[in-house]
Amino acid sequence: MEFLELVKNRYSVRAYKSIPIEDDKLKYILEAARLAPTGANRQSFQLIVIHTADRGDELRLIYDKPWFVQAPVIICACATTIEGRPFREGGNYRDVAIVMDHLILAATNLGLGTCWIGAFDPTTARDILGLPEEARPIVFATIGYSNDQPGPKKRKPIKELIRYEHW
Ligand SMILES: Cc1cc2nc3c(=O)[nH]c(=O)nc-3n(C[C@H](O)[C@H](O)[C@H](O)COP(=O)(O)O)c2cc1C
Repeated sequence: MEFLELVKNRYSVRAYKSIPIEDDKLKYILEAARLAPTGANRQSFQLIVIHTADRGDELRLIYDKPWFVQAPVIICACATTIEGRPFREGGNYRDVAIVMDHLILAATNLGLGTCWIGAFDPTTARDILGLPEEARPIVFATIGYSNDQPGPKKRKPIKELIRYEHW
């Protein structure tokens, strides 16, 4: 897909068909995430791939929306520390955001729907997914075939968002 078309085509999908994601598509998406740039090439993140089949009741404790577990796959993106080094709040979070944007746009390119989820319960996520202390869940994303419709893209006009040096 032409890149700007791809960006325009992505929208938050909050209803999914009960169709699994093909393995090769999932691999493509994860490869796009792997290739994302990170500060100093730290790559200190882990993506947890969660298949939702038969786990709906449990997974909804993490984020209580029916569509969260309607999606066949959920990704939990964690920031991790590099052994022996302190956690880098800003740096680690930026890295995870870039990785997830790669993942989400790659999914869009394959005709899959996604939704970022930041309003999840981190303590429950940690318990259910058995995350170790050094991994911080930052954001989730649902992935699956959309059963939703895009709404209007409500964005500020470019002149409110972009400045050329003089504030
Ligand atoms: C970091 C981040 C966190 C988000 N968290 C949630 C969420 O917890 N629940 C939800 O329904 N949508 C969530 N969204 C989706 C936004 O609401 C959505 O991207 C925004 O309203 C623009 O709509 P669009 O994605 O359809 O273009 C999140 C988006 C981002 C980027």
